[in-house]
Amino acid sequence: MNSVKVGLCGLGTVGSGTFNVLQRNGDVINARAGCRIEIVQVASRRPNPDCQLGDTPVTEDVFAVARNPDVDILVELIGGITVARELILDAIAHGKHVVTANKALIAEHGNEIFNAARVKGVTVAFEASVAGGIPIIKAIREGLSANRIEWLAGIVNGTGNFILTEMRDKGRAFDDVLVEAQQRGYAEADPTFDVEGIDAAHKLVILASLAFGIPLQFEKVFTEGISNLDTQDVAYARQLGYQIKHLGIARRNNGGIELRVHPTLIPRKRLLANVDGVMNAVVVKGDAVGPTLYYGPGAGAEPTASAVIADIVDLARTLTADPEHRVPHLGFQPDQLSDIQVLSIEQVETAYYLRITARDVPGVLSKITQILSDAKISIEAVIQKEADDGEDYVPLIILTDRAVVKKLDEAVDKIQQLPTTEGDIVRIRVESLG
Ligand code: HSE
Repeated sequence: MNSVKVGLCGLGTVGSGTFNVLQRNGDVINARAGCRIEIVQVASRRPNPDCQLGDTPVTEDVFAVARNPDVDILVELIGGITVARELILDAIAHGKHVVTANKALIAEHGNEIFNAARVKGVTVAFEASVAGGIPIIKAIREGLSANRIEWLAGIVNGTGNFILTEMRDKGRAFDDVLVEAQQRGYAEADPTFDVEGIDAAHKLVILASLAFGIPLQFEKVFTEGISNLDTQDVAYARQLGYQIKHLGIARRNNGGIELRVHPTLIPRKRLLANVDGVMNAVVVKGDAVGPTLYYGPGAGAEPTASAVIADIVDLARTLTADPEHRVPHLGFQPDQLSDIQVLSIEQVETAYYLRITARDVPGVLSKITQILSDAKISIEAVIQKEADDGEDYVPLIILTDRAVVKKLDEAVDKIQQLPTTEGDIVRIRVESLG
């Protein structure tokens, strides 16, 4: 049996998971790959007690792996952007194929990296960059290649979903759950990436490029985090038959592509509304296949290692294939990418959940509904609570029909200026995903 030689850079959560799964399941992995996959060098600045390297050669210098003539595939699991980008470009320059789990790097520098790889006739594989162990990249790029993708929506950050689930089910405090997500190895080095939607935006950009055949355009994603979510909105959403999830949404619209990450009310009967804990899920709607759902663990050592190793096996199988006949990085041939524009958030139309703090006086509801009616925004549902004893203000919850953001913003500003409303109006987008 021939062997394919792998250099593993990074021995953190995913790196050690990859080493361990390759050791444990080497027989089935090799049987699938049709060759022996051998780790010939590991680069790590410190040992990882979760990982027994035995006599595998170790270096502290990741660039030594990129230049090691024995290495066929460099696996980049060091994370971050600056050094990782240099490392991958160096590996490509030395004729290595690359496997990476680095979503930030692919989202922000993927166009440059894929170009460099194409010029050199090598492949950069990145299945583990989105939704951990779920083979979503392969599904969109290959499994759905017959389809025009209409939209996709996903829970693609395990940490955020874990936090929302624990807060909802156990009433735990935000910070407390975040610490647990860090201890379990789910969270990013900078956890604001998880809770502010930046990590999800990185992943969404990658999925959108694969789905719509557009270059990676991270700077155009609209991003809103979950750190300001109030538990009372989670409860009101449930009363209305919805669940709040932190969704990444990419949709082909008349004039362009929507790319947005934000807290979203979705009907509780949708499967996506029932994806809890660290689990991720992505719904992809193709014109031929209809809606399809991909579900699984979105973070963690071995789930992510599963995707890293799948890429190694794929590469091992195609190492001898002519570069022109390999699967293109973004699924579309590079000269066939589209220049369709990404829409600004002001051009996007969605329904809204509004929570207004209103004075408990006659006529307040009718003034608010009049403003919405003047703006031609229909109301789908209203909840108004009785005021508690001694309270002058009551929460008023309104679900609107779809409206363009600009029109909704103008109406909300007018409601906010009424003398009978108090404080900021909470607004959360609603998607039926039907
Ligand atoms: N921080 C990420 C998450 C890790 O929680 O989903 C996987 O990309």
